[in-house]
Amino acid sequence: MILRNFVVFEGIDGTGTTTQIERLKSAYALRQGENQNLIHFTCEPTSGEIGRLIRRALRGEIHFTPDTMARLFSADRGEHLFGENGIESLIAQGKAVFSDRYLFSSLAYQGEAGNPDLPLLLNGNFPLPEYLFYFDLDEDTAMSRVEKRAGSLEIYEKRDFQNKVRSRYLEIIERFEHEEKNMKVTRIDASSSIDEIAEKIWSIARNLPKM
Ligand code: TYD
Repeated sequence: MILRNFVVFEGIDGTGTTTQIERLKSAYALRQGENQNLIHFTCEPTSGEIGRLIRRALRGEIHFTPDTMARLFSADRGEHLFGENGIESLIAQGKAVFSDRYLFSSLAYQGEAGNPDLPLLLNGNFPLPEYLFYFDLDEDTAMSRVEKRAGSLEIYEKRDFQNKVRSRYLEIIERFEHEEKNMKVTRIDASSSIDEIAEKIWSIARNLPKM
């Protein structure tokens, strides 16, 4: 099932999804007018209880098995979609929702970190977004961007792992493109300039939410 007006950004760490979401927020803010309260931005892991637990594990403060991580991400997603003020209810109110990461992250990251059947099983019943922007970048460029950021690296932020996650993403995206024709996939060359990418995204996002 496709959730209309639901837009997802995906890619390995350091591909610039967060930067583009900030650009998109500014673009909507500049466009004064009636649609401001019809746009909602969110991300996964969420800022909720389960998301906070996941963040601690990502920082390496606590340790879970790869399968538990897969279960935590899907539990966080379940709340994100169906919990109080969740994505489903926002969409039902006529809003467009933009999420920095969604179930494709679980298929790629947890599919690589553990048994790939588990994330497929855990995420198989969640609705798909109407639009998916997949940011593609080689792991060397992506990881050097990650290393330039302040702070210490998270558990998945290793070159070799990111390389494998990228291969999984490419496989997953191709499969969805074939099997889910109603989900509109846009591949972004994340080595392009920030302006170029922002324009490409705006050409689609400016028309949302569609009634
Ligand atoms: P990220 O969007 O990179 O957050 P930040 O930029 O704030 O660090 O997400 C954090 C990490 O979580 C990233 O390495 C991808 C990983 N992740 C998964 O492994 N599975 C998932 O289902 C999701 C949503 C994220």
